[in-house]
Amino acid sequence: MGEVLVKTSGIAKEFSGVRVLDDINIEIERGEIFGIIGENGAGKSTLVKILSGIYTPTEGGVSFEGTDVSIGDPIQAKAIGISMIPQEFNLIKELSVYENIFLGSELTGKGFLNKREMKSRTVKLLEELRTSIHPEEKIEKLSVAQKQMVEIAKALAHDSKLLIMDEPTTVLTQNEISILFDLMRRLKDRGVTIIYISHKLKEIREICDRVMVLRDGLIISISSTDDVDEHEMARKMVGRELSQIFPEKTVPSDEIVFQVENLSVKNTLNGISFDLRKGEILGFAGLVGAGRTELAEAIIGIRKKESSSTVSVKGRRVEIRSPIDAVKNKIAYLSEDRQGSGIITAFDLINNITLISLPSYSRILLDRKLQKEKAQKYVDEFNIRAASLRTRLEFFSGGNQQKVSLAKSLDPEPEVFIFDEPTRGIDVNAKREIYHFINELVRKGVSCILISSELEEIIGMSNRVVVMREGKVTGILEGEHINEEEIMFYATGLKGVA
Ligand SMILES: Nc1ncnc2c1ncn2[C@@H]1O[C@H](COP(=O)(O)OP(=O)(O)OP(=O)(O)O)[C@@H](O)[C@H]1O
Ligand SMILES: [Mg+2]
Repeated sequence: MGEVLVKTSGIAKEFSGVRVLDDINIEIERGEIFGIIGENGAGKSTLVKILSGIYTPTEGGVSFEGTDVSIGDPIQAKAIGISMIPQEFNLIKELSVYENIFLGSELTGKGFLNKREMKSRTVKLLEELRTSIHPEEKIEKLSVAQKQMVEIAKALAHDSKLLIMDEPTTVLTQNEISILFDLMRRLKDRGVTIIYISHKLKEIREICDRVMVLRDGLIISISSTDDVDEHEMARKMVGRELSQIFPEKTVPSDEIVFQVENLSVKNTLNGISFDLRKGEILGFAGLVGAGRTELAEAIIGIRKKESSSTVSVKGRRVEIRSPIDAVKNKIAYLSEDRQGSGIITAFDLINNITLISLPSYSRILLDRKLQKEKAQKYVDEFNIRAASLRTRLEFFSGGNQQKVSLAKSLDPEPEVFIFDEPTRGIDVNAKREIYHFINELVRKGVSCILISSELEEIIGMSNRVVVMREGKVTGILEGEHINEEEIMFYATGLKGVA
């Protein structure tokens, strides 16, 4: 074993008397990439928040480079060489990229802010990440993936000895992930230690030296990634053998319930046409920038459609100018940027779930009993782990927040459901639950659009697959044509109209 960089002794953490971490003893080496996996709510983020000074442990301590340290806050953590890329973005949207990167550690010269130096260092950092974001761009103008890149650059701006990444790749594309992994390998070669949390077990095997499994706040195992395969990791996380991940596909009816013709959005989408049958799962594949999320946003009225575009529900043309129009037409949308638009973290679970369908709960006064029953039903259905229905969402683990936003978009009982990256950040078992849940929806006759960057998910779930590239549909695949190779041909423009 090499030199130990960080060591925890008997760490425990309680929130209002509930123990969410217990007896955590680990030693992580200098230059090691150490993976942490576990189901939603297992305690992964809590542990790394203790290491980065966001939480104080209830019991136990941390030693760093052989010395006992008390890490009071993130600034102290940075000072000794610990930085974290958090699971929830921590950027100020009104400020620019470079201002965010140097927030709290601004560079000065002769008593003034040295903006030029900060900008040029930002450019260098972003170059290292092979991304072309402008240093003066405002955060609010960036895509989710770009925001993630800024978070990574922010952590790299300080010379860290320990870099903690809490689910860094959930919003990144395959290409961005390989850039990140290259960078991680270079950092490792420089002797930087990385703690890496992810639900993507394949990535864990690829990039980590060792992996620790947490379950209900306890260490289940710590092993070399050469010694455990993905199946074994999943089994340890869940504590039992997992049955079939993807459910049996169903056969949709011939009835067309939803149709988009010649849909265009200025500078973004060009003449998109497709139809959706009753009980069908229509997958949408494509590389980032293909326009899939933009298409969903145009359908539900967040983006303005050009006047030539038509959308029909059950053969009747409808005008959808806002998400409220979409709900009225029984079209639901689960957005990809769940933190941005999915949930309100200052509200409790009941209010989040029943938010968009409030009118149906308010006969004269709000029907609080019904609201509560509904919320409880979703908690049971999705196995949402919460202290109570009145707990504010900011205290939920990342994955449990996602389950709430899913439950929320289901509440108005949609006939057409658009899922945009529904399993992002969710553990294997919850993924399986969501796949089976979508399958149950289509069995009941709901029609689903499934936008996903995980090809396995698209292939495992869809009846047909629409492939998009640069704002256009390049192919619609059926039957045995639904395979990885064919999808990539259309997505990259090797096949189909470009
Ligand atoms: N500030 C807090 N107040 C109350 N409870 C909290 C707080 N932070 C975390 N918890 C609880 O601690 C438990 C562990 O949460 P944690 O965020 O560490 O899970 P996680 O393993 O990171 O899950 P995920 O994969 O969903 O991100 C959860 O039950 C969560 O509700
Ligand atoms: Mg977490």
